[in-house]
Amino acid sequence: MPQDKPAHATLSFDGKVLELPMKSPTAGPDVIDIQKLYAQGDVFTYDPGFTSTASCESAITYIDGIKGELLYRGYPIDQLAEKSHFLEVCYLLLYGELPTAEQLSDFVPRVTRHTMLHEQMVSFFRGFRRDAHPMAIVCGIMGAMAAFYHDSTDINDPEQREIASIRMIAKIPTITAWAYKYSIGQPFVYPKNELDYSSNFLNMCFSVPAEQYAVDPILSRAMDRIFTLHADHEQNASTSTVRLAGSSGANPFACIAAGVACLWGPAHGGANEAALSMLREIGTVDRIPEYIARAKDKSDPFRLMGFGHRVYKNFDPRAKVMKESADEVLGLMGIENNPTLQVAKELEKIALNDPYFIEKKLYPNVDFYSGIILDAMGFPTSMFTPIFALARTVGWIAQWKEMISDPTQKIGRPRQLYTGATFRDYVDVENR
Ligand code: SDX
Repeated sequence: MPQDKPAHATLSFDGKVLELPMKSPTAGPDVIDIQKLYAQGDVFTYDPGFTSTASCESAITYIDGIKGELLYRGYPIDQLAEKSHFLEVCYLLLYGELPTAEQLSDFVPRVTRHTMLHEQMVSFFRGFRRDAHPMAIVCGIMGAMAAFYHDSTDINDPEQREIASIRMIAKIPTITAWAYKYSIGQPFVYPKNELDYSSNFLNMCFSVPAEQYAVDPILSRAMDRIFTLHADHEQNASTSTVRLAGSSGANPFACIAAGVACLWGPAHGGANEAALSMLREIGTVDRIPEYIARAKDKSDPFRLMGFGHRVYKNFDPRAKVMKESADEVLGLMGIENNPTLQVAKELEKIALNDPYFIEKKLYPNVDFYSGIILDAMGFPTSMFTPIFALARTVGWIAQWKEMISDPTQKIGRPRQLYTGATFRDYVDVENR
């Protein structure tokens, strides 16, 4: 604790005076350690949605919502998006440092050689309806991996934790691509080890056995950047889900499947699909004011999807990079006049000059522009959130590994503010 800071916070109530220790981070707000509050004060804290609660100690990702800063292991996201590539970012998130050339040349083939799924898992895909949402398939197949990869489910064995982590990072593109292929009735395309991670994913999505397919380097670079931008994001809802599932000792595949399930929600990772649908529904620039009015109308549940964030009260640095990437990719594809992109840009401009959005500090988030790029790349909106889950798998794993290897970790078990009926005796039906 730095010298100029108090070592504790004093809490006084009901004639009690409690001294609660304070801890200082390397960056961000200090914390008041309330672990002994209930034992010493016989009270709980109350923080639904965890707006003021630090659930854990972590060294992986730092967000400054005021400055609009996002750091992976200290490195700013815009530099990583520009200078790094996704598998290098995976190494950074998992092991804490950028790899040397030798470490990277060892890590990449370890991932590449695990890209195939156990062939018997193909029958799992066939059990889904063709019109199943790909997120339902990805969630199911990820959980089902525990039924095939028993040799990497012992969370107490560091070796098994490592192989399970590599398997999930390696196989999630195959699972996601096959969920897409299954939904459009095309045959599965197997991974090709000579392709890089993003090109391999695009090839499994868009190539067909009937003809040659060459991955466009512009698209694989854009895909790789989208993966990097979505890789991790501190203790968001799905990461907290993974940590809570992991705290019970559940196997790694079950924990990541829980993260996929949570990410699916439209308030979280499902927002990219919802944002593009919203932009399409708006359709033309002249209809934007109608939707801005609806977003501000408290009696209307409509919200601007892809806008706002629990932490960022300034721009989301990922949205900034994504917007630049959208301009670049659509420009290189000769569709810079894409009507949806024009509506998005005009909507952002109008919203950011509207007092409501300024006062509530609502800015575009990572989901606002990502769908425009994915749509231009040929993905249906139903594939947007699965692609988010593909990218976030490494972040979930890094956070899960950090929690599991923390000797002080224990099962997560929050309490409640109970407002239900107090004790009462049973009443026979004839007396009710
Ligand atoms: C992701 O947590 C993460 O890090 C998530 C994520 C990650 O990488 O893991 O960043 C990914 O989930 C991005 C967010 C994607 N979701 C959306 O785009 C859905 C639309 N956004 C909202 O649902 C909302 O902004 C949230 C859910 C993102 C944040 O909600 P909060 O923090 O609970 O904020 P809030 O709902 O309390 O909103 C504060 C005020 C409210 O008005 P008042 O009640 O104070 O009058 O702002 C309003 C809200 O009504 N508001 C919006 C709005 N978002 C918030 N009004 C209109 N449109 C919006 N989009």
